[in-house]
Amino acid sequence: MIHQNRRKELLSQIDDNAVVVISTNPEQFRNGDVTFPFRPHSDFFYLTGFQEPQAVAVISRNTYTMFLRDKDPDREIWDGERLGLTDAPEILKLEKALNINLLEDHLAQLITAENVVYFDEKPCDFDRMLSNLLSSYTIKSLQDPLHEMRLIKDEFEMSTMQKAANISMVAHVLAMKYVFPNMFEYELQSVFDAHFVKNNAVHAYTPIVAGGKNACVLHYIENNQPLKSGDLVLIDAGCELDYYASDITRTFPVNGQFSEPQKQIYQIVLDAQLAAINSIKPGADVHMPHKIACDIIQQGLENLGLLAPGEPLSKFYMHGTGHWLGMDVHDVGKYQINKQHRVFEKGMVITVEPGIYIRKDDKINPIYHDIGIRIEDDVLVTNTGNTVLTEQLAKTIDEIETLMSED
Ligand code: GLY
Ligand code: MN
Ligand code: MN
Repeated sequence: MIHQNRRKELLSQIDDNAVVVISTNPEQFRNGDVTFPFRPHSDFFYLTGFQEPQAVAVISRNTYTMFLRDKDPDREIWDGERLGLTDAPEILKLEKALNINLLEDHLAQLITAENVVYFDEKPCDFDRMLSNLLSSYTIKSLQDPLHEMRLIKDEFEMSTMQKAANISMVAHVLAMKYVFPNMFEYELQSVFDAHFVKNNAVHAYTPIVAGGKNACVLHYIENNQPLKSGDLVLIDAGCELDYYASDITRTFPVNGQFSEPQKQIYQIVLDAQLAAINSIKPGADVHMPHKIACDIIQQGLENLGLLAPGEPLSKFYMHGTGHWLGMDVHDVGKYQINKQHRVFEKGMVITVEPGIYIRKDDKINPIYHDIGIRIEDDVLVTNTGNTVLTEQLAKTIDEIETLMSED
């Protein structure tokens, strides 16, 4: 019913003579006939609820047709059961189910010259073929209306995202309690791997488990170095549950106790993060959290003598403060409309993730060398303000040290 309502809502927003054509993701081969686990394309799943590969949906006011794989007892021995053409109409609420092998010959029968086709080509062979088949029609982007819909989460989506956040928060707590000096980053990552699998979830993105100076590499994913006493470890890890992501970063001391310089930098990031979160409410400019975070970090680093007044902050803070979160970790949705920052609306979910990264540098006081700190939470915009989906996870210096000292 959820997917049916979404199709109806989409059609109500686009041209009367619109036909939506959308394919799912291609299967990804690792080598030979070995595939990566299949994950449907978020746009496709959002509209159809169908999880099998090799499928194309055609949606209009007159038809809802799916091209999909038919049953194949021989292949099903290897790859598992398929829905098949006979059961697909009832299960997927289709008007018509057609064999995917007929796509090339039958697609044109579902579209007339008067139709406007809503279609976006993904970089895969399948979509290149669709582009060719659709080349004679007027094409409009489906992403524009669809991604606006995906940006505003409904009750079901909010509750799924809260469940994903809950699983990820528990994993972060387990990691804080498990860490000890000289263990390897991948051993700490295993806490997340195990906890996500136990909860029928997967990583929403490649996790970052970065000890000491590795935290200053923003996209560090090797996770293969030993963790040293006296260093911090930055963990950016979140699960995807039922196709909805969570995205959490915590930074904590490997030996359970922050040093004074680490505390000074941590507190600046925390102050920036809390103030940025506080600015999120309906009607507020979506750029405001970044502006607030930058101002606080700039001031904090100037107070410590790490930046001269007015010196560019990008030396120590070089990324944005957040992004939309939903079915994809860097979720769809525009940040600007007509070149103006848009405003927050109820049902949007955004991350808030300021950081400070201080690489070794002769000009910087050595007590701050190799400190990399980021704090990231997931924030849902509500009627009057916001709810932090990841609120329950320890974040202040005291909360983290206390948690890590408990048996
Ligand atoms: N985990 C990806 C990000 O924080 O943007
Ligand atoms: Mn993020
Ligand atoms: Mn993250």
